[in-house]
Amino acid sequence: MKTVQRYQKGYFLPPQTDWSWIRQEYPQQAPHWCSVDLRDGNQALVTPMCLEEKIAFYQMLLRIGFKEIEVGFPAASETEYQFLRYLVTHDLIPEEVTIQVLTQARENIIKKTFAALKDVPRAVVHVYNSTSLAQRQQVFRKSRREVKELAVQGAELVREWAEKTAGNFRFEYSPESFTGTEPEYALEVCNAVLDVWQPSVERKAIINLPATVEMSLPHVFAAQVAYMSRYLHYREATVLSVHPHNDRGTGIAAAEMALLAGAERLEGTLFGNGERTGNVDLVTVAMNMKALGVATQLDFSFLPDIVSAYETLTRMTVPPRQPYAGKLVFAAFSGSHQDAIAKGMHFRREHPQAPWTCPYLYIDPQSVGRTYDADVIRINSQSGKGGVAFVLEEQYGLQIPKALREDFSYYIKGISDRQQRELQAAEIYQLFRQRYEPHSDGMYVESFAVHKTGNRWQAKAVLVYGAEKQVVEGVGNGQLQAITNGICAACGLDIADLVYSEHDLDGGTGSRGMAYIGITDKTGITAWGIGVDTDTMTAAVQAFTGAVQHHPVFSKQMSFQRRILSAIAVGGR
Ligand code: KIV
Ligand code: ZN
Repeated sequence: MKTVQRYQKGYFLPPQTDWSWIRQEYPQQAPHWCSVDLRDGNQALVTPMCLEEKIAFYQMLLRIGFKEIEVGFPAASETEYQFLRYLVTHDLIPEEVTIQVLTQARENIIKKTFAALKDVPRAVVHVYNSTSLAQRQQVFRKSRREVKELAVQGAELVREWAEKTAGNFRFEYSPESFTGTEPEYALEVCNAVLDVWQPSVERKAIINLPATVEMSLPHVFAAQVAYMSRYLHYREATVLSVHPHNDRGTGIAAAEMALLAGAERLEGTLFGNGERTGNVDLVTVAMNMKALGVATQLDFSFLPDIVSAYETLTRMTVPPRQPYAGKLVFAAFSGSHQDAIAKGMHFRREHPQAPWTCPYLYIDPQSVGRTYDADVIRINSQSGKGGVAFVLEEQYGLQIPKALREDFSYYIKGISDRQQRELQAAEIYQLFRQRYEPHSDGMYVESFAVHKTGNRWQAKAVLVYGAEKQVVEGVGNGQLQAITNGICAACGLDIADLVYSEHDLDGGTGSRGMAYIGITDKTGITAWGIGVDTDTMTAAVQAFTGAVQHHPVFSKQMSFQRRILSAIAVGGR
């Protein structure tokens, strides 16, 4: 059976291909950004934005810093017409901002477009017609000459209407479906349009090359752009713009390469909303540039607010892995990543002026309005000791000793694994306290007193077990040692090793101290306890008590001790 080749390439390489642009590492300068959210983005929504929503979106675009905004296709929809009138009549177009409107190259549509533009201070009138081989053959059934004629007529009409309408107008032409158009033909059409407009350096025209449907690898699109840039007439008087869509998922790469290849302007939308797989995502392109040190003039420092307004206004969602903007894009769950990030953060604290080089984080989350606390290190069953310690240090000021970190992180891993969920910082802190603080139904030290004799400390402590009390005495080189020796001797605890550390918790006078004690028995089993008090020694004694209570061997010995005490009713009853 004969097989039919269903697909073949639908694009055309230019007659001359210049690849010299590829030698540049990245665009050295930001393009003129043009947001087409309110037109291309809006026309792709299940429910297009209403007037109020468009106004709110427009205000957000201004706040981000867009200076060129395509506000709609006023002849195509009543809302878009009303929206443009609203902007004009309410004086909502700042001096440094130029709005843009789209129109087809047809007289009645152009006429209505200029009616909507009445009294606008300045605007770009964007006229387009399809030039691709497929559209010429299948949609218009017109020859190359006839399709070029349509473009020229459209150019003439907008020029004529601009002459008879008060206002400062510039023109933009798009050979729609450029990526399916033979480049030499697209060039011929664009040059014919420019011949009509006769642009000057003072009043430049915009030639916009849309990847209406993305059809090739990004470097091929860039080669088409390079060809246009090289052979376009009035080049000095023309702003070369690109308008990538994302059918192959490479719209961003296509935009970035097109900028290398000579494009000076970029049309796109926030988060890539737009027809089918969307327009190019301007947030990503701009942040990609910023991350390489290029000044973009766009402000995404409040990106979480932008995401939430975008989601409300468009009823679209920003996926959690959307570059820069997604909820999870800075999150590290895996132990090794967390460990490296925690160390990277410490390095930053030591070198606050150093450029951003933190492992696993391409940019500083704070530059897009995210926080280290909530967004970076997140704890689940994949997490390790570095991550858990980072969360407790960042949010609760705990400097947990290394060995205790390990003990606690296994505990946390187990809980997250059993419950199959992420644990929040507050829960982790709660679990930490529950696991290591002494509990009131075990043995505890009700009071203690220490004094120094020569270079030795003597301690007296009152132990309580339920209703029973026992006074114990001990000596040691330090205060804590004197107390613990007393308890161990009285209760028969044979401690092979004890580690102790403490730190200030709040800073300043009257601050609480945080104590950590790990005790190990002869078989090598270690248990940990923690204590918090404004008095360092009280915190340490609490930590010791916690460790004894949590140690499987010592806690058994303690309950045995308690049974003996109850039986013979000794102590200070
Ligand atoms: O994608 C496209 O071709 C367009 C044009 C109207 C510029 O949106
Ligand atoms: Zn488009």
